[in-house]
Amino acid sequence: MPDRTAVYPGSYDPLTNGHIDIIERGLKIFDKITVAALKNPSKTYLLFLEERLEIIQETFSNNERIEVDYFEGLLVDYLKKRNITTVVRGLRAISDFDIEFQMALINRSMAPSIETIFLVPSVCYSFLSSKLVKEIYLLGGEIKKMVPAIVDKKLKEKFKQFPL
Ligand code: PNS
Repeated sequence: MPDRTAVYPGSYDPLTNGHIDIIERGLKIFDKITVAALKNPSKTYLLFLEERLEIIQETFSNNERIEVDYFEGLLVDYLKKRNITTVVRGLRAISDFDIEFQMALINRSMAPSIETIFLVPSVCYSFLSSKLVKEIYLLGGEIKKMVPAIVDKKLKEKFKQFPL
């Protein structure tokens, strides 16, 4: 039987413990997970693509079943190029459902062979998002329990002047 691989796409700006929880759950179902960070030149990120990728790479450096990659443009085009037909996304709460449902269906309308699998994170991460992590960090709050240690380290190195 061929390896079952899924792509877990996202912005990862930055990677959070919630993402890690979804990846670990995904590895119970798939042989390999490709964590694919979006490169979107028209979007403003806190971290450069290289920094986002480095964080994911370092976090999973001991796990051969995790591949780290990036994509630009449509997710379905990346999946076609990689010959992968499954997307994993996390569903934290009902508030995620609307947009995730739309994305899954729009991706299916463009590429009918692609399936989206939703995984539910541990309840302790149901409130967690990269957006809130960034906000808390930039306002001087403690993010250590929300992200892998390398994220805290990288943010402190990069934004020595924060909190303002
Ligand atoms: O971590 P995010 O920001 O919730 O991830 C969203 C992402 C990157 C999965 C989504 O925006 C995406 O797939 N973008 C690529 C462009 C695309 O394919 N758009 C059409 C379907 S949404």
